[in-house]
Amino acid sequence: KNIALLAGGYSGEYVISIKTAETIEKNLDASRYNVYKIIVTKEGWCHEHNGQRLNVDRNDFSLTIDGKKINFDCVFIAIHGTPGEDGRIQGYLDMLQIPYTTCNSIVSALTFNKSYCNKVVRSFNVVNIANAVHLIKGEPFSMGAILDQLKLPLFVKPNESGSSLGVSKVKDVGGLLPAIEKAFKEDDQVLIEEFIEGRELTIGVYRTNGYLRALPATEIISKNEFFDYEAKYTPGVTREVTPAEIDNTTREQLENKAMHIYRHLNCRGVVRMDFILQKGTGKLFFLEVNTMPGQSENSIVPQQVRAAGLHLKDFYGELLEDCMN
Ligand code: DAL
Ligand code: MG
Repeated sequence: KNIALLAGGYSGEYVISIKTAETIEKNLDASRYNVYKIIVTKEGWCHEHNGQRLNVDRNDFSLTIDGKKINFDCVFIAIHGTPGEDGRIQGYLDMLQIPYTTCNSIVSALTFNKSYCNKVVRSFNVVNIANAVHLIKGEPFSMGAILDQLKLPLFVKPNESGSSLGVSKVKDVGGLLPAIEKAFKEDDQVLIEEFIEGRELTIGVYRTNGYLRALPATEIISKNEFFDYEAKYTPGVTREVTPAEIDNTTREQLENKAMHIYRHLNCRGVVRMDFILQKGTGKLFFLEVNTMPGQSENSIVPQQVRAAGLHLKDFYGELLEDCMN
């Protein structure tokens, strides 16, 4: 089967995507799949063949190599951020009726917008979500009104971004406006959330043969103030414990909530959901769904796959087969 592996993208997570795609490429069974890596940038969508850069024909998503036209049976999307995690490429592939490994366009677009996703997940009534305010560029807002509604400390996030780009933790009133301005540089919508003190847990969920499966959860213990870009990608700043050392009741709750959210959002492929286990109360707070979680060799999802006793080769094979069925 011919598989297109899409990497790169138009966002600040380009570099992470290249690493994710390396892991996936290395672990796609070459005896079953012909894998063609395609790097997506604003300048073009290119496949490298014998040192030559070949452009994808975007009218029918094909490549022509040595005069031979290649169509694809499935697309493995490995792009974080736009246009591969926010539903745009998904919509394009739907138009061409080519299967792909991620959530569909509407689910990708919904989950990529943290604020809209929180509103929908809140309606499921299965998990706590921090109080939040949603700002839209050009709409007036009042600092007084925000501070009346939310208790410090706060998290200020661009609504649509990944890897914590543009995110700040605000501990005093004076820090709020600069944090909002910083987040507006990344996106025209901003989410301001109350900080929930507790342990950060993250869990992968995927579908195989039509059934859902939760991977062993990871606890993220960061030396930084929060799990920011530096903590995510600088070795030694963060300790990730997989499987997380949590009691059985918490583990079961986490798995059930994550699978419930996956099922009711109608997700596909592997997604990773982030939660906070609140200090003192033991309540689980939902943070977000990542429909294209980072998968460089030591990223969380590959750690969880190994902790589940699975081989990455089988795992990626299952993801591909599930979306082609
Ligand atoms: N956005 C990064 C890649 C993640 O969620 O893992
Ligand atoms: Mg994210």
